[in-house]
Amino acid sequence: MNKILVTGGCGYIGSHTIVELQQSGFEVVSIDDNSSSEPWIMERVQQITGIPCTNHAINLCDMPALRAFFEAQPDISGVIHFAAFKSVGESSKEPLKYFHNNLLGQMNLMRCVQDFKIPHFVFSSSCTVYGNPEQLPVTEESPMQEPESPYGRTKVIGEAMLRDFVKVVPAQVIALRYFNPVGAHPSNHIGEYILGVPSYLLPYITQTAIGKRKKLTVFGGDYPTRDGTCIRDYIHVCDVARAHVNAIQYLQRGAAPQAFEVFNLGSGLGQTVLEMIASFEKVTALRLNYEVGDRRAGDVVAVYANNRKAREVLGWELKFDLDAMMATSWAWEQRLAREHG
Ligand code: UD1
Repeated sequence: MNKILVTGGCGYIGSHTIVELQQSGFEVVSIDDNSSSEPWIMERVQQITGIPCTNHAINLCDMPALRAFFEAQPDISGVIHFAAFKSVGESSKEPLKYFHNNLLGQMNLMRCVQDFKIPHFVFSSSCTVYGNPEQLPVTEESPMQEPESPYGRTKVIGEAMLRDFVKVVPAQVIALRYFNPVGAHPSNHIGEYILGVPSYLLPYITQTAIGKRKKLTVFGGDYPTRDGTCIRDYIHVCDVARAHVNAIQYLQRGAAPQAFEVFNLGSGLGQTVLEMIASFEKVTALRLNYEVGDRRAGDVVAVYANNRKAREVLGWELKFDLDAMMATSWAWEQRLAREHG
């Protein structure tokens, strides 16, 4: 009962989750086609845990290959599904690419969960499903809103597919709604590996500080918040990763009262963009080159989590504060600069 398949295992949250799973005694196997990740991440995972994890370079849209994988691995007892495209901007330009990859990939995986009778499934969802919430912090009962992007729509539809799925298939499913995962593993062996120009705030901050980008533009200084910039809930990636272990253990204990449950994974705190910059400057003793510019289309004003359900029901504990998020992000950026230029 302890072999877990992680899809997207070479990705940012996937790789950190494999570390936490292995360190909690699970055997892990990964599927990742490396379309937006690096195969060497798996060696780094092994450097941390001392335990090998084999990655299978399969595209989830390739059903014959996926089926052959499951036939060869009859002892998988749970699936944690990360593999998906996640660029919001790209999804608006190429919605079909996102629908095809994220939805067909998930559907094929669900077909295998059904056919191979896998009892437990954990799905990567996002706080993007809440849109611009009317009440803060958001609970799992807060209403879902029309998604701002095709990427967001794949998360809303992905959850909906699973809700219908569990009505007819004896699998138990948890959807974890991530807020803004940041930071890197404290060992500094793995972190977020970004191809091209980052769109997310913290990688943009660290790339600017290291000299890869000239200047950070703060997207909008006239929002109705305490300093005029947007509020988000930043959460350390290792805390996010550990919640997946808690979720699998919860399902294995048979503790889930319903076949489909959702949990918010956020710190419960909201930080403005300017507070994030100030925190980075404090932790690193550096000065960041930034200016306040225009708003970015599609940005919500403020969103942060009520995380009580994950803490009380899953037994999730948060171990990393904002300083640790900044320190580990910066250490990782420096390592990338040394090794990859
Ligand atoms: C992004 C996605 C969202 C997704 C979420 C978590 C967009 C429009 N939205 O949102 O769908 O659910 O990640 O995966 O991409 N910022 C700057 N300058 C920058 C970059 C960001 O000021 O160069 C600001 C943004 O305006 C925002 C905050 O920093 O206020 C965080 O931005 P980002 O890291 O992109 O995350 P989200 O906006 O939460």
